[in-house]
Amino acid sequence: MTTLLTPLAAGRLRLPNRVLMAPMTRSRADDDGLVGALTAQYYAQRASAGLIISEGIWPEPMGKGYVRTPGLADASHVAAWRRVTDAVHAAGGRIVAQIMHTGRISDPSLLPGEATPVAPSAVRPNGGTWLDSGMQPHVTPRALGTHEIRAIIDNHAQAARLAIDAGFDGVELHGGNGYLSTQFLSSNTNVRTDRFGGSAMNRVRFVVETLEAMAGTVGADRTGLKITPGKTFNDIHDADPRETYVTLLRAIRPLNLSFLEVAPDPVPVVSHAVLRPLFDGAYLAGSGFDHASARAIVASGEADAVLFGQLFIANPDLPRRFAYSEPLAQADQATFYAGGPKGYIDYPALDERLAAE
Ligand SMILES: Cc1cc2nc3c(=O)[nH]c(=O)nc-3n(C[C@H](O)[C@H](O)[C@H](O)COP(=O)(O)O)c2cc1C
Repeated sequence: MTTLLTPLAAGRLRLPNRVLMAPMTRSRADDDGLVGALTAQYYAQRASAGLIISEGIWPEPMGKGYVRTPGLADASHVAAWRRVTDAVHAAGGRIVAQIMHTGRISDPSLLPGEATPVAPSAVRPNGGTWLDSGMQPHVTPRALGTHEIRAIIDNHAQAARLAIDAGFDGVELHGGNGYLSTQFLSSNTNVRTDRFGGSAMNRVRFVVETLEAMAGTVGADRTGLKITPGKTFNDIHDADPRETYVTLLRAIRPLNLSFLEVAPDPVPVVSHAVLRPLFDGAYLAGSGFDHASARAIVASGEADAVLFGQLFIANPDLPRRFAYSEPLAQADQATFYAGGPKGYIDYPALDERLAAE
């Protein structure tokens, strides 16, 4: 029987277990998008994950949507991330870079020249964004011209190249959680009338062409995609998520990507059973899993591996705790994006904690 400790091949990636670390923004970079020594320590502490998927990383300055989030847009970012990947590899781990363009979920104060955030269409999201000045309501984004889209796709491919230069083992396009890719995919945020909008075939085109560009640059066997079908986070309301995501998976099938991360809401609108047969690489399920539900989904074959978010923040040695049924710590939400070491690198591994008692 397949267990969480059974190794897994995902394209070029070789995972020693199926307990994976979900991508999580932690807002510990500086204002230029450079990560430092704390980030290297944080990820190295979690190197026993079968695979680490990094926090969302912007591929161009217009893709930044939160304070102190990191970038992969120039040589300074490559040098900064190199320290992280070296630390993870020295600790025996594997890490892929999540490329995340936030599109309309940004604020002029985070963008070059106080620019207006860009999106497929000028549809203002309900809600707001946390800035150092407090919660600010979202602004109405500027709709991208057709001629501008190619440059954004090229910048995703460049970020993939820079990720490999920085020593990452692969790349993932963030296609979920209401950011730029989801804004193209979803009917309420994409009311375009060119080849990137309208029918499901047109709405999936941005993601398909971006993946083609990323995979064409670094290889499909180390390129993956994250989707969150039916999730309404960031004011996403797709009229027919099943049609959208089935169309998307059919369109990317010929690319032979390494892995697909599917992290819907806990009660999925489109089930894993519908999506899984449409993808030939490693199928990774995330969102709301505990040890028992993770064991069950892997044993049933409905997913190849499971991603853990909050549990990996609080338990840097999560695979070991599962293996020996050891107690689990809970994450402190107040420090998720707080900056600094507290709630970042100070969750002990179990043997460190036992030694300290
Ligand atoms: C603090 C925090 C930050 C997150 N940031 C990201 C992100 O940058 N990219 C992403 O794809 N998902 C992000 N997520 C979502 C997680 O990857 C995951 O899908 C979600 O936490 C559900 O997993 P869990 O129930 O095991 O925590 C974040 C979640 C948390 C808790």
